[in-house]
Amino acid sequence: MAADILVVHHSRGGETARLTEEVLSGAEEARGALSVTLLDAFAAGPDDVLEARGVILGTPARFGYMSGAMKDFLERIYHPCLERALRRPFALYVKGDSDITGAVESVERIVRGLGWKRVLPVLEVVGAIQPPDLEAAHDLGATMAAGIESGIF
Ligand SMILES: Cc1cc2nc3c(=O)[nH]c(=O)nc-3n(C[C@H](O)[C@H](O)[C@H](O)COP(=O)(O)O)c2cc1C
Repeated sequence: MAADILVVHHSRGGETARLTEEVLSGAEEARGALSVTLLDAFAAGPDDVLEARGVILGTPARFGYMSGAMKDFLERIYHPCLERALRRPFALYVKGDSDITGAVESVERIVRGLGWKRVLPVLEVVGAIQPPDLEAAHDLGATMAAGIESGIF
């Protein structure tokens, strides 16, 4: 079934997944009649993106880049989605331990090529997850859902 709001994430150790839980919880609260679906980056594909009204991406930092799973996802959707999802609203959250600059930039560069429109500041979480990070993840999901539901995004 097509998702209105598609959350694509990957997490090996569970930390990004903890943020994802909050993103989903926020989106569920604000989604109105919209549907919200979570897919692992290895499971999501171009049709999921093309059918969604907004996309939220979540990845850990790996070796100064996004996770291999997120890269695999973006590689698989890039050409099928090129010029077919222009101005697609998207949001991004990234979890790392020390330096996530390269991870953030790596996603943004590819998504810029796809012509998507980032509608919220990137949520960057570095180090141990603190309660304000969980709140920020919740807000990211809620704001994305409310913005799409109301047509602002
Ligand atoms: C192979 C590997 C590479 C990593 N590279 C980075 C990095 O470049 N920058 C960073 O801040 N953290 C890096 N980390 C730390 C993870 O991004 C961090 O522990 C994250 O919270 C793990 O997310 P997860 O539990 O969702 O898998 C790396 C971890 C691993 C295992």
